[in-house]
Amino acid sequence: MCGIVGYIGKRDVAPLLLEGLQRLEYRGYDSAGIAIIRKTQSGTSLKTAKAKGRVRELEAQIPKRFAGTTGIAHTRWATHGAPSDENAHPHLDGDSKVAIVHNGIVDNASEIRAKLTADGVVFTSETDSEVLAHLIGRSQASTLEEMVQQALSRVEGTYGIAVLHADFPDRIVVARNGSPVVLGIGENEMFVASDVAALVRHTRQVITLDDGEMATLTAGDYRTYTTEGSRTSASPTTIEWEAENYDLGGHDTYMHKEIAEQPDAVDRVLRGRIDDRFATVHLGGLNLDAREARGVRRVKILGCGSAYYSGQIGAQLIEELARIPADAEPASEFRYRNAVVDPHTLYIAVSQSGETYDTLAAVQELKRKGARVLGVVNVVGSAIARETDGGMYVHAGPEVCVVSTKCFTNTAVAFALLALHLGRVRDLSVADGKRIIAGLRRLPGQIAEVLGDEDQIAKLAAEYANARSMMFVGRVRGYPVAREAAQKLKEVSYVHAEAYPASELKHGPLALIEPEVPTVAIIPNDDLLEKNRATLEEIKARSGRILAIAHQKQETANHTITVPANEPELDPILMGIPLQLLAYHTALVLGRDIDKPRNLAKSVTVE
Ligand code: G6P
Repeated sequence: MCGIVGYIGKRDVAPLLLEGLQRLEYRGYDSAGIAIIRKTQSGTSLKTAKAKGRVRELEAQIPKRFAGTTGIAHTRWATHGAPSDENAHPHLDGDSKVAIVHNGIVDNASEIRAKLTADGVVFTSETDSEVLAHLIGRSQASTLEEMVQQALSRVEGTYGIAVLHADFPDRIVVARNGSPVVLGIGENEMFVASDVAALVRHTRQVITLDDGEMATLTAGDYRTYTTEGSRTSASPTTIEWEAENYDLGGHDTYMHKEIAEQPDAVDRVLRGRIDDRFATVHLGGLNLDAREARGVRRVKILGCGSAYYSGQIGAQLIEELARIPADAEPASEFRYRNAVVDPHTLYIAVSQSGETYDTLAAVQELKRKGARVLGVVNVVGSAIARETDGGMYVHAGPEVCVVSTKCFTNTAVAFALLALHLGRVRDLSVADGKRIIAGLRRLPGQIAEVLGDEDQIAKLAAEYANARSMMFVGRVRGYPVAREAAQKLKEVSYVHAEAYPASELKHGPLALIEPEVPTVAIIPNDDLLEKNRATLEEIKARSGRILAIAHQKQETANHTITVPANEPELDPILMGIPLQLLAYHTALVLGRDIDKPRNLAKSVTVE
């Protein structure tokens, strides 16, 4: 997804911005550009460079005399208009006085474009964003802040923008509505970015803007205010993620690094939360007292992609441990279906980034209807974390690879904590509470054990990599694992995969089974083991190859990856781990761009 970086201070800006853009590369993009303010004896002017392709291609295009100490830069993910040099940001107004970078979508761009064209404005790109540059440039207001406000009052849609003006060379003006904007506060220098990844090397003091909020950055100061002009009070928070967390740390890809980090990550989500005395957990940020927790009659979990599948594991855990009816639904569907919002239902929004637009929109719709919404989020201070009434951080640390691994696992563990908490204020016994706590404590070591089998999993990946399609099946607890594993394989290796409840196989997809369509079966040693074995027999009888993920060798399967057994409720968390490695090694065998799969973005901040 598009990325923004800006800087104002004393240092040479181009290298700083290029480095910032590189830090945002993981989000997925197809072109990049930069604009700086250039001061010469004859006055100030703007200089820009843009290039289709990677940041290094932009770097190659930057002329030698590109010196300045104020600038903005962008990585673009095409929405309106194909990837090209012209469509890359920054966009300028007709007089080349204004430069803007924009994330989000201007919904009424074609209408504004038609009006401006009739007034004689010449557009140089096909983007929706360019209208913003022209609207700002044509404003008659006397300050840059007012010019931006006037322009924004005419656009509908979402934006995170940063604006330079040659006549106001001492400032960068930024604004947010639906697309993240983070200010980085330095010593006599200020940064702005759409993601802390671009700032963390320079400052850990950040301010995340709210929707409808703007800021003016000068080298020595910042101030925040609304798009209507009233002042807001924003004080910086310190981000806990270290710059090193964004390095590869000896791994070839972020996906591999993040898979390997899981024992530590799970340890972090548990840390400081377990209460052995009462066999429960403390979740300080929930803002839900025992009486309110007892009053919850249903739980509805909302998220997109992997966040949705981890929510399915969460719903299962809540039903089992707390005996509260719970289900998960894609936030992207929920927000459009005019759902019945019930006062006794606890709504939970799940998101790694905390910025996924569909999930945020679902939260906003729920809040508008008076619902209580919690967030299960990785990025501290992100939009969803702030819009919800309380929640839990999953403490996975920064996840850079587009496909989610450690955050998926940590979210599932966070749900186990929440389920235990809700269970213990209701009918879960002390003995069961202790059993789950012991299981949670075993998870980091057991994940490390599974990761120790990587060589065997890599060989299996090579064996199955040429499959025409892969079927993933699981029953009840195993079904969300199958769904996430199928998604992982599709995303990163582009091998087609389908996930089905094992019980549903014979009601349709069994027709697909043949030697070229192998099945990955999730078979925990629980009360459904015999039912699952019967499914394997059905597949075998149709000459289907089978890779079982199980607690012991499955005779009917062609191969078994064995994982250590935990408590039955927590087994799904462990069974997902080998399947991350399977997807990873399949992608490696097939030579895919593992950290940046085609067509995908890390966080989708547009509709
Ligand atoms: C995108 C990514 C997925 C991710 C989903 C939700 O679609 O490609 O990998 O699971 O967004 O992201 P979130 O940040 O809300 O968890």
